[in-house]
Amino acid sequence: MMRRITKKGWAMIAVAALVAAPVATFGADEITLPHQNWSFSGPFGTFDRAAAQRGWQVYNQVCANCHSLQQAYYRDLEGIGFSPDQVKAIAATKQVPTLDDSGQPTTRPGLPSDHFVSPFPNDEAAKAAMNGVVPPDQSVLVNARAGGPDYLYALLNGYVDPPKGVTVPEGTYYNEYFPGHFIKMPPPLSADLVQYTDGTKPTVQQEAHDVVTFLTYIANPEMEQRKRMGVKVILFLIMLTGLVYAMKRQIWANVH
Ligand code: HEC
Repeated sequence: MMRRITKKGWAMIAVAALVAAPVATFGADEITLPHQNWSFSGPFGTFDRAAAQRGWQVYNQVCANCHSLQQAYYRDLEGIGFSPDQVKAIAATKQVPTLDDSGQPTTRPGLPSDHFVSPFPNDEAAKAAMNGVVPPDQSVLVNARAGGPDYLYALLNGYVDPPKGVTVPEGTYYNEYFPGHFIKMPPPLSADLVQYTDGTKPTVQQEAHDVVTFLTYIANPEMEQRKRMGVKVILFLIMLTGLVYAMKRQIWANVH
């Protein structure tokens, strides 16, 4: 038999909820991420092509030494404004693993249709080089982390001195925004690490902003098309609503 909850019962439930909510949030190591301005946020957002191209440069010169980007193709770079010839030239600077005529492993220059090459031949090799962790593949990393672009940006800028009394274990670095704070990735960015051809000043913040723009594009190459379609659908629905309303008035015109 179901028992009805009395007034007193409801009051106790309300008090319990009021007490529990703040305790629960206090308990977790709550980190608030600062929000950044991204060209691609909002329903009309698009990728800032210049920023994404600078971000490719940062990825290519820095991150690609440790992180793979296995699901992306070199031809995807056309989506951030590189011409087909530029993409061909970029791909040709890479050595892609293949087999020779006698079946022996060898390499050949890359093509636009090739996947991005990985820095390590396999996870074991990556682990051995990286203190026992595999640097995660960056193909969809932006989408896979809570906070997305804001988290990546904060992480790249989050290397600070540890608070007093905290000892950082060997082989790790203190990061304000990494869950648990001890990360095995050495601070990847520093000022003037890359030389931008468009004259932009390569500060750590700038490099981080650019590389996160690039990685967000790589993880969501269809985003702009998806948003354009969304806007069209909304416009269509507005027009349809108007049409249906006009029809309704017409049909009921003689009924008073
Ligand atoms: C020297 C090698 C190295 C370089 C260079 C490097 N990383 Fe990493 N990265 C790592 C390793 C190792 C991890 C795994 C860290 C861990 O789990 O403790 C990692 C983890 C990450 C993570 C995941 C953090 C999480 O929440 O799990 C992100 C995001 C990241 N790197 C972004 C970048 C970006 C962007 C660049 C280029 C600007 C870069 N990394 C350059 C080695 C590197």
